[in-house]
Amino acid sequence: MKIIDTLVERFKKEFDTNDSVEVFFAPGRVNLIGEHIDYNGGKVFPCALDFGTYAVVKKRKDKTFRMFSENFKSLGIVEFSLSDLCYKLSDDWANYPKGVIKTFLDSNFNIDFGFDILFFGNIPNGAGLSSSASIEVLTAVVLKHLFNLDISMVEMVKLSQKAENEFIGVNCGIMDQFSIGMGKKNHAILLDCNTLDYSYAPFILKDSSIIIANTNKRRGLGDSKYNERRSSCEEALSDLRNNGVKITSLCDMDNTSFEKYKHFIKSEEAQIRAQHAVTENYRVSEAMKSLKNGDLENFGSLMNQSHISLRDNYEVTGWELDSLVQAAWEEDGVIGSRMTGAGFGGCTVSLVKNNCIDNFVQNVGDKYKEKTGLEATFYIGNPGDGARKLGDF
Ligand code: GLA
Repeated sequence: MKIIDTLVERFKKEFDTNDSVEVFFAPGRVNLIGEHIDYNGGKVFPCALDFGTYAVVKKRKDKTFRMFSENFKSLGIVEFSLSDLCYKLSDDWANYPKGVIKTFLDSNFNIDFGFDILFFGNIPNGAGLSSSASIEVLTAVVLKHLFNLDISMVEMVKLSQKAENEFIGVNCGIMDQFSIGMGKKNHAILLDCNTLDYSYAPFILKDSSIIIANTNKRRGLGDSKYNERRSSCEEALSDLRNNGVKITSLCDMDNTSFEKYKHFIKSEEAQIRAQHAVTENYRVSEAMKSLKNGDLENFGSLMNQSHISLRDNYEVTGWELDSLVQAAWEEDGVIGSRMTGAGFGGCTVSLVKNNCIDNFVQNVGDKYKEKTGLEATFYIGNPGDGARKLGDF
């Protein structure tokens, strides 16, 4: 593959070596339905993509790490030592892999040397396709191979999430790291975030495709807003439990019991956040039934309802995402369209009939630009395999 040869060359030049190297890959992910419920014990339906992050690596004989990213060339090589794995603002993107190394060490995995590593990602950063979880799970897979660690993929997924929660400070759920680690070509994953039970569903559609559209609005303050949403859900859960409702997470409730008990949630805001969580979980179950019955139209309509709930109840969409989704809804051949990921900017995901894709890209792009002044970027979302070693070079 040309991209690998190019990256290996770049590694050798950047780190001034001719030694052999190992190459790894971790995908990005797109979530089809089940948004903002992974941390509420809900079910989600994401898939890994066939684009993501590459790493070219060579183990060192000392305890130094040197990291370079082709995406942030101007930041140069970030260097740190095994004995100094602390978060540094100036280390910027390198805090993600650093956090994973620290989390592995804290979990007593034996990492006794450093390495040189070059990263390159073709997932747009901050676009809601999980570029950060991709580099985290990628680092975990690198550690496993380089240090012969006895660790399963699910364990690596959990440690990557822990790094994001504790080292980076974003209180994310498990969905991103899980889909990136466990992805399977041509399949989406139905994941129960309460138990981590999962199953694969074939997701190659006969005459339609997954189209991802980037608003090209960076998430900005998204991370702090994300943590705020999560706190509102925790507040709702604790009000319910304090009033004797026997649940361990919001998604333990169905729509009927939510209606019965919602008055226990004191703040109106927490109540509508919880309403999103409960109804979104129901939409995922309905979406799975529709897929089984081959009823893609209903699947699409549930995607649309998911967007409306994220817009009106969870309030994580915003002008750009709403404009892009609205333009998609008005277009012929669109089965369903919604925001995907954390929101506050980033991407939408749409199911579009294959013979309408060209018009979709043209018309939705034009309408979106007219409304917002921004150019959207479009990608075909082919479900791909999870994080893995690609080989020795
Ligand atoms: C981000 C988080 C995930 C999930 C989504 C919203 O991508 O990392 O854990 O909560 O937002 O569904």
